[in-house]
Amino acid sequence: MTRIPHEKSGEPNPLRALTLDRLRRRTSMKWRTYPDDVLPLWVAEMDVPQAEPVVRALTDALALGDTGYPAGTGYAEALAAFAEKRWGWDGLAVERTAIVPDVMLGVVEMLKLVTGPGDPVVVNSPVYPPFYQFVEHMDRQVVEAPLGDGLRIDLDTLEESFRRATRGGRRAAFLLCSPHNPTGTVHTAAELTAVAALADRHGVRVVVDEIHAPITAVGIDFVPYLSVTGGENGLSLMSASKAWNLAGLKAALAIAGPDSAADLARMPEEVSHGPSHLGIIAHSAALRDGTDWLDALLAGLDDNRRLLADLLAEHLPAITHRPAEATYLAWLDCRALGLGDDPAEVFLRRGRVALNSGIPFGTGGAGHVRINLATSPELLTEGVRRMAAALD
Ligand SMILES: Cc1ncc(COP(=O)(O)O)c(C=O)c1O
Repeated sequence: MTRIPHEKSGEPNPLRALTLDRLRRRTSMKWRTYPDDVLPLWVAEMDVPQAEPVVRALTDALALGDTGYPAGTGYAEALAAFAEKRWGWDGLAVERTAIVPDVMLGVVEMLKLVTGPGDPVVVNSPVYPPFYQFVEHMDRQVVEAPLGDGLRIDLDTLEESFRRATRGGRRAAFLLCSPHNPTGTVHTAAELTAVAALADRHGVRVVVDEIHAPITAVGIDFVPYLSVTGGENGLSLMSASKAWNLAGLKAALAIAGPDSAADLARMPEEVSHGPSHLGIIAHSAALRDGTDWLDALLAGLDDNRRLLADLLAEHLPAITHRPAEATYLAWLDCRALGLGDDPAEVFLRRGRVALNSGIPFGTGGAGHVRINLATSPELLTEGVRRMAAALD
């Protein structure tokens, strides 16, 4: 099997396609939460036009009146082909997949399959805030295993958290974010294999959110958790949503390894009534026909990661960060600026730029902000200018 990541596509950089005036006409969360004098570089939506194959698939469906209930396994087949071509993984078996409305609702359903009320769920803080909210709302208890050096999984800390979580014979799960939001860390095969061995030793079930998997930096290989030795009883959630900006077109896939197929089979049938037929059409088209567009996006994101590093070095050298290996997010350590626990509040109030506060990301989040790089170089530059202006 050959991996073919990041082929040169010849497509224009989608991050350069839209003007601010056009973006401000959008009605989604990123553009409507703050007043118009605020530049929004926060929630994970991208400032890109939709990929042409997705537009075509949706407009064809609408023209045909093909707006009924979904049928078939086209989404899973498209993802399986994408996974084989992109990551060299031929282990995504269509019969071990289920369609779910979105990744977070899929996470909730997978956790319900392997834990009961009151059971612990381990997460690597700082992490995507809904990992706390959704898990707590489903009456599970979050146990933090903070990331260690280099914002990577610390196996000793993880093992200690597994010990605590399973004390007294409790059922426990590890909700792994791979690649990791907000740090953009891509876990290596060796790290994931070690995680699987630890989980096996402590009887902890692994549910892995792989929504950012297609968005790796050039030269970085994503490794599917279910593909590593010991990962066969994991449950994964994947979606085209982040990589093709399809959050408004709900559909995601839950994927079982060979040893968790029986668990996935217990997922209640009504869960698969959530995703819309149009969402499935859009996600399938993206995975099947949208890889040239994705490659152009990834090249643009690489440029933006370099641009951000240059801009920070020039205008805000006290901020430290590690360029992300994946995602279109950057996690900025602002503690040396002396702005307290919530620098995002200061950047918003004084600089009129909206970033994510690090606080809801859990332990390790205070004094940090998350910035969204999926915008034009001009708007990214303006965002950093506003951040610097907030300090004047
Ligand atoms: C790690 C992670 N999981 C899940 C989601 C949300 O996905 P969905 O809209 O499919 O629930 C996001 C959105 O940014 C995310 O970053």
